[in-house]
Amino acid sequence: MKKYLLINGPNLDMLGVREPDVYGLRTLDDLEQMMREYAKEKGVGLECFQSNHEGALIDKLHAAHWAKFDGIIYNPGAHTHYSYALRDAVAAINVPVVEVHLSDISTREEFRHVSVIAPECVAQIKGKGFAGYKEALDVLIEHAY
Ligand code: DQA
Repeated sequence: MKKYLLINGPNLDMLGVREPDVYGLRTLDDLEQMMREYAKEKGVGLECFQSNHEGALIDKLHAAHWAKFDGIIYNPGAHTHYSYALRDAVAAINVPVVEVHLSDISTREEFRHVSVIAPECVAQIKGKGFAGYKEALDVLIEHAY
C-alpha cells in the first residue's frame, strides 16, 4: 500500500481559533480526520504530523526519506516565505512534496507572495481551503513522480 505524509507547520495547530475569516472555523483535528478518511477511500495510508518548530519539521522531512513515503502534503505556514533550511530539506529528500496553502498567498500581503520552498516541490495548491489538501493527495497518487 502506498503511504503518504501530511505535514502542517507553525500555527496550523491553531486552526479554528486563528483568524477564522481567513482560515475558517474547522480545526486541525477536523482536517486530519478528513484526510485520513479521504486516504482510506483512495486505498492509501496517511500519517499526520504538525509542529511549530523548524528543526522538528526538518527531522520529519528527513525521516520521510528513510521511511520511504510515496509523497508528502506540506503546508509550511509562514516558513514558506523565508525558510531556506526547510527548502533545503525538501530538496534533500527523494520524496515528492506538494505545497498547500489554505489561503491564496498570492492575493494577500506582499511578503506572502513569495514561496522559497515551492521551487523544490512538484506542485503548489493555494486558496482552496481544506479541499486543497485532498487535491494534493490526488496529485501525488495520480502522478508517478
Ligand atoms: C498559510 C499561509 C501563510 O502565509 C501563513 O503564514 C500560514 C498559513 C495558509 O495555509 O494559507 O500560516 O500557509
